[in-house]
Amino acid sequence: MCTLKKIVLIALSTCMLLSFTACSSKDDGVLTMATNAAFPPYEYYENEAIVGIDVEIAQAIADKLDMELKVEDMEFGSIITAVQTGKVDIGLAGMTVREDRLLSVNFSTPYTKAYQAIIVTENSKITGPDDLANKSVGVQESTTGDIYVTDDYPDADVQRYSKGVEAVQALLQGKVDAVVIDNEPAKVFVKQNEGLKILPEAYTEEEYAIAISKKNDDLLKKINDALAELTEDGTLKSIIDKYITAD
Ligand code: ARG
Repeated sequence: MCTLKKIVLIALSTCMLLSFTACSSKDDGVLTMATNAAFPPYEYYENEAIVGIDVEIAQAIADKLDMELKVEDMEFGSIITAVQTGKVDIGLAGMTVREDRLLSVNFSTPYTKAYQAIIVTENSKITGPDDLANKSVGVQESTTGDIYVTDDYPDADVQRYSKGVEAVQALLQGKVDAVVIDNEPAKVFVKQNEGLKILPEAYTEEEYAIAISKKNDDLLKKINDALAELTEDGTLKSIIDKYITAD
C-alpha cells in the first residue's frame, strides 16, 4: 500500500473512532446533568456525593425515562454552553428562567419560585436593595444576583466569586458590604455563620427550571411530562420539603 493510502486510512479510522466515542458519551441510556454543586439546598457535596433538591428531581426524572443519571459539576457560568453544545443533556442548577438565556437554551416548566436575598452583617446600615447603590457587593459570577446588581447599580463595586460561599466569606472578612444571592442558599449560609442576617425585602422574583438544548425538543417534552407527573403525585413537593423546612 502506498504511504498516501495508509495515511488516508489511518485518518479515516481515527475519525470513525472519535465519532464513535462522541456518540457513546451521548448514550441513550444516560441522562447527563450539568450543575454547580455549591448551592445548598439545591446542589452541594455531602462527602464525595453531590446531593440536593435538583439532584433528586433529576433522579426522579431519569427513573421515569428509564435512564441512568450522571451528574457533572462545573462553574455556574459554563452550564448553558455545556447544554447548548450537547456536552450534557440538561442543566439543573437552581437556574432562573431569563429571556437572554432563552436565546441559548430551552427551559422546562418551572419547578419552583425563588428570589434574590440580601445578606449583610448584623450591625449593617444597609436596609434594602437601594442601599446597595454605592456599596461593594459580593455575588456568584454569572448568576442573576450578578446580573441584577450590575445592571441596577452602576456605581456599586460588584465583586464576583466562583462560589456563593466565597462571597459570604468576603462579607465576614469585611471585604464586601453585602452579598446578593438566592434566598434558600442565603438561609443556609447565614445559618452556618454567626453575625449575619438576611434583609426582609426580596430584591427580585424568579423561577427555576431545567435547561435543555434547543435541538432536543423530544427531551424537552419528555422532561415536561415527567415534571407534570412528579408534581401531580406529590413527589416534587416531598423532595423540596425534605430539604427546605418551613421557618
Ligand atoms: N438562580 C440564579 C441564576 O440562575 C443562581 C443559580 C446558581 N446556581 C448554582 N448551582 N450555583 O442565575
